Amino acid sequence: MKALLACLLSLGAAFAQADGSCLDARSPGPVIHKEVYGQFVEHLGRGVYEGIWVGPQSPIPNTRGIRNDVVAALRRIKVPVVRWPGGCFADDYHWRHGVGPQRQPSINSSWSNAIEPNTFGTHEFMDFIEQIGAQPYVGVNMGSGSVEEAQGWMQYMTAPATTAPGAERARNGRSEPWAVPFVGVGNESWGCGGHMYAEEYANRYRQFQGYLKSYAGPGVRKIATGPDTDDYEWTDTVMRLATRFRPNATSPILYSPPKPLLDGLSLHFYTLPSNRWGGVHPARGFDEAAWISTMKRALLMDELVGKHSAIMDKYDPAKEVALVVDEWGTWYDKEPDGPGGLWQQNTLRDALVAAVTLNVFHAHAERVRMANVAQMVNVLQAMILTDGPRMLVTPTYHVFDLYQVHQDARRLPLTLDVPRYRHGGLDVPAVTGTASVDAAGRTHVSLANLDPTRPHRLTLEVLGLKPGAVKGRVLTAPAMDSFNSFDAPDTVAPRDFHGARWTGSALTVDLPARSVVGLELR
Ligand code: AHR
Repeated sequence: MKALLACLLSLGAAFAQADGSCLDARSPGPVIHKEVYGQFVEHLGRGVYEGIWVGPQSPIPNTRGIRNDVVAALRRIKVPVVRWPGGCFADDYHWRHGVGPQRQPSINSSWSNAIEPNTFGTHEFMDFIEQIGAQPYVGVNMGSGSVEEAQGWMQYMTAPATTAPGAERARNGRSEPWAVPFVGVGNESWGCGGHMYAEEYANRYRQFQGYLKSYAGPGVRKIATGPDTDDYEWTDTVMRLATRFRPNATSPILYSPPKPLLDGLSLHFYTLPSNRWGGVHPARGFDEAAWISTMKRALLMDELVGKHSAIMDKYDPAKEVALVVDEWGTWYDKEPDGPGGLWQQNTLRDALVAAVTLNVFHAHAERVRMANVAQMVNVLQAMILTDGPRMLVTPTYHVFDLYQVHQDARRLPLTLDVPRYRHGGLDVPAVTGTASVDAAGRTHVSLANLDPTRPHRLTLEVLGLKPGAVKGRVLTAPAMDSFNSFDAPDTVAPRDFHGARWTGSALTVDLPARSVVGLELR
C-alpha cells in the first residue's frame, strides 16, 4: 500500500495513462538472495538413483557416476544450493554407511523400506555439487542419530587432512576439505524426525548446534527445524528458546554473546489443490476448480511467511535469523501409471505455482534468504524427469530459468492494481509479479497471469527509467495441464515475447492467459 501511495504521489498527471500499476526503478530494495532458488534432493524414489546417480559403469553418459545430461541442465539455471540427504530420510541416515570402499546396503525406513545401496554418499554428493557449481546444505541426523555422529560428520567433511577425520576422508579419495556453508539440524522434528514438542526440540537444538563446526571455508550457518505450515506456536517456542545464548538471563554481569545460536529457521509448506491432505488431486487431467484452488493454496505462502516472520521479529528484530523455506512445491496424487516414489507429472499449473511462490519469496526478501523446491529430479515438483537414458526439463524448470535473472539482484517496488480472477466461489489476483535491478543495471520484471482463460493487459507506470528497449520471453501452453513428455519434450517451453511496448512513460504488457512472462528493460 505504501509503495502504491508513493507511486501515485510521484506520478501526478502522468498517472492518467496507467491502470494504477507502478514500477519504481528509483528505489532498489533488499537483495534477493540467490539461495531462494535452491533445490532439495532426498533419497526417495528415483530422486538420487537414476535421477542423478547412474554409476560409473552405466551406458548413460556420466562423470564419475553422475549423469552428464542432468548436470548440464542444472548448470544452465545456476542452482545456488542443494539440500541433502532429506527430508525424513536425513533423520534415518547414518553417514558412515555412505563413505569408504565397502558400502553396505541399509534400509530406507522413511520411504517404503526401500534398499538404500549407499553408493551415493558424502563424496558423491559433494562431487555432484561441484559439478553443478552449487553450495551444499547438509542435514544432520537428530531423530535417530547422536551429537557425536553429527559432529563426526562435520569434522569428516571440513577438517584438514592432518587430523584423524580429515585423514580418513583423504584415504577415501579427498584430501582437500569441503566447505559446508549450511547445515540443517534435524528435519520435521515435530513429525517424521522424532515427534518432539517444540520445547524438547529447542533444547536438543541448543546442544547439537554447539558441536556443529566447519573447519573450512567461511563457517557454517545453522538452520533449525521450523514449523509445519501454520504452526505459529512452534516458531514462537523455538525462537524464544533457541535463538539466544542465555534467553532468560537477567543478570547484567553474565556475559551473553550477541550472535544468535541459529542462523535460520526452516518452514515446510506444500501446495495441494486443497487445504487438506486426501481427496482426489491428479497431477494432470484436472479442471478449472482444481486450477484456482491450487493457485489459492500457493498464495497462502505469502500469509505464512508474513506471519512466521512477524513472530521472528519479536525475538530477532534485526532479522539476523533467516526464514528458510527448505521444502516447498506441489504435491498431488500418486500417478496411477507412474513409477512411484512421489513421482508426479509437471504441468503448466506447476509453472504458475513456481512463479507465484518465487514472487512471494522476493516480496519477503529481507527475511526469506533461502528456499529449496521439493524436489530436484523425479520427485514431487521436479525440475527434471528421467526415464532410463532419457531426460526432459519440466515447466517448473523453465520458470527457474526465466527467473534466474533475479538471483542476487535488488528488489524494486512493484505495485500491481489488477482485477481478481474468480471461479466457482474462489478468487485470486489475476496477475502477480516481481521486479529487480541486477548488478549491471538491467531491470527485470516477471509477471504471472493466473487466469487460465483470459489474457490480461497491464499498464505499468515506470518511474526512474527512460523508455528504451524491452526484451521478453513467455511460458504458456495450449492447456492448463499441458506437460512435457519424453516424446514431446518442448510442449511447454519459453518463447520470445513481443507483447510489451512503451507508451510515454508507461509500459503496456499483454499477458496471454495462463502465462509467465519475463521482461528485461534497458
Ligand atoms: O519431500 C518429501 C517429504 O516431505 C520430506 O521427506 C519430508 O520432510 C516432508 O514431509
